[in-house]
Amino acid sequence: MKNSKVILVGAGPGDKDLITLKGIKAIMAADIIFYDALVNPELLEYASSNTPCIYVGKRRDKKRYSQEEINSLLADATKTHHTVVRLKGGDPFVFGRGSEELNHLDNLGISTEIIPGISSALAVPANQGIPLTKRGLNESFSVITGTTSKGTVSKDLKYAAMSSATIVLLMGLKNLAVIMKETARYRDHSTPFAVIQNGTRPDESIHLDTIGNFESVIDLIDYSKPGIIVIGETVSEHPAFFEEEIQRVLQAVL
Ligand SMILES: C[S@@+](CC[C@H](N)C(=O)[O-])C[C@H]1O[C@@H](n2cnc3c(N)ncnc32)[C@H](O)[C@@H]1O
Repeated sequence: MKNSKVILVGAGPGDKDLITLKGIKAIMAADIIFYDALVNPELLEYASSNTPCIYVGKRRDKKRYSQEEINSLLADATKTHHTVVRLKGGDPFVFGRGSEELNHLDNLGISTEIIPGISSALAVPANQGIPLTKRGLNESFSVITGTTSKGTVSKDLKYAAMSSATIVLLMGLKNLAVIMKETARYRDHSTPFAVIQNGTRPDESIHLDTIGNFESVIDLIDYSKPGIIVIGETVSEHPAFFEEEIQRVLQAVL
């Protein structure tokens, strides 16, 4: 179709109000929408009632689209629709394969636009009162994949653990034990960490502990829900951390 384009929109971390105004305007203008599992479906209510909204996520018990199929769906949609919106959880360029989709479309000569979103890496800790940086505590933060394409933990964890960085791991819940053991090689065992699931959503949950005590958290994880792991001194800024730490120490002593 003449002058058609694909707009890659970051939908934010889960709370439907944590999308940008520009993102909402794109949804309202969409002629067709392709959306992922981590997108809050309530956002689709901003779309026109006759706009087809097609689920192409990988988490539900439905057909799983490969990345190649999604790329083709987007390109094909521009033949029949003027404004194609590709709605992705968080920010499309943070572990979202957004650049792969854009490259594919660019190579076909299809116009594209990117609307950034608020990444879960930033918003989920913030929503729990955990700062990623605090003067005097650390000098950087690192966002790392907890599961590479080979299923392993990124080797970048080692370098982050050697620094003062607050470490944020996405897609790392199943590798929690490996992550904790690797981090403990470079950080004190009393370093706090948090596992936050379904962050910014009404059923958000958090588990706080220290890396020397990570095994107590493993059984509390619900692997059906997306979660991030945050490691570092700034986690102790969480309002409940010290209260829970006193309880943990008392239980260990008694
Ligand atoms: C494929 S990555 C996509 C990240 C996304 N592009 C972003 O910027 O947030 C999916 C991972 O993001 C994390 N994630 C996304 N939304 C989350 C949420 N609401 N709460 C906790 N973790 C979340 C989880 O680690 C999940 O496995």
